Amino acid sequence: MKRVRVQYRRLIEVRELRACVDLQRRVWGFAERDLVPASQLLTAAMNGGAVIGAIHDHRLVGFVWSHGGVKGGRPYLHSRMLGVLPAFRGLGIGRRLKILQRRAALEEGVDRVQWTFDPIERANAHLNLHTLGAVARVYYTDFYGTSEASLHAGLPTDRLLADWDLKGSRARKAARRAAPRFHAGPLPGEVVTATAGPVARLRLEGYRLDAAGKTLLVEAPAESQRMKRRDPARAIAWRMGLREIFLSYLGAGYEARDLILAPQARGPARGYYVLARKGSGSR
Ligand SMILES: CC(C)(COP(=O)(O)OP(=O)(O)OC[C@H]1O[C@@H](n2cnc3c(N)ncnc32)[C@H](O)[C@@H]1OP(=O)(O)O)[C@@H](O)C(=O)NCCC(=O)NCCS
Repeated sequence: MKRVRVQYRRLIEVRELRACVDLQRRVWGFAERDLVPASQLLTAAMNGGAVIGAIHDHRLVGFVWSHGGVKGGRPYLHSRMLGVLPAFRGLGIGRRLKILQRRAALEEGVDRVQWTFDPIERANAHLNLHTLGAVARVYYTDFYGTSEASLHAGLPTDRLLADWDLKGSRARKAARRAAPRFHAGPLPGEVVTATAGPVARLRLEGYRLDAAGKTLLVEAPAESQRMKRRDPARAIAWRMGLREIFLSYLGAGYEARDLILAPQARGPARGYYVLARKGSGSR
């Protein structure tokens, strides 16, 4: 991994929070009306949430922000955005920001962080479920309604809800050291999806909704950004297929506990969501 000198700190000055707004434009390509303004970042930071920046050479290159929430009398943080400038990706900045977010939450006495992510984005799923040790049990259909953000490419904004139990063994392990990126050994369950084509342009051809094994595997597409831009019909097929699969299996008592990357002899790795029955052993 290339090394760059990055400083991390809580942001609270309006000038710095405005830099977070600029970053939203550059990372997500949001339309003006979808940008979260500095004033909202400020009130989130002052009311139990946190805005944490990654700074390189006096310039903001990434940030994560969360606001407080409460459900059934229990406080939690809802993490609203995590973004790193394209030129600074793959350097461990995103992971570090999340680990610092965990620390900030624990310092406030909060032991749970939640956030939503697009199930088509397997790198995000890998970060959330594999690298950080979150679990997804809830699927939202068209969560944000139609978005004009270029990163969303006009698809319905379906989302999985990541639930991060900050004191759980997986989160504690994630905070100590990075998990290996690739899965070694045979696939750990029954694959319920049928796919075709090279991994970089994988098509979803079909799926089973009646599997009942202990661990089920759901394949996810690679190169989702390119697919959304260049092949919207394939992206829509994945969106609708994964929607039906997740609604069905999460409704039947499974949860998404991991996204594993299985290396191939040639070309990109295949990626599989690992679904296990709620309450069953850790993996
Ligand atoms: C998601 C994002 C914040 C990651 O930032 P980053 O600084 O590149 O992330 P890191 O280098 O710390 O990598 C963190 C993890 O992401 C995952 N990841 C990153 N690139 C990946 C890839 N090409 N394939 C699979 N997983 C990948 C891995 O789990 C990785 O951990 P590892 O390196 O220990 O395996 C960044 O890509 C981004 O800004 N994307 C656009 C905005 C967005 O989608 N935000 C939502 C995040 S849920």
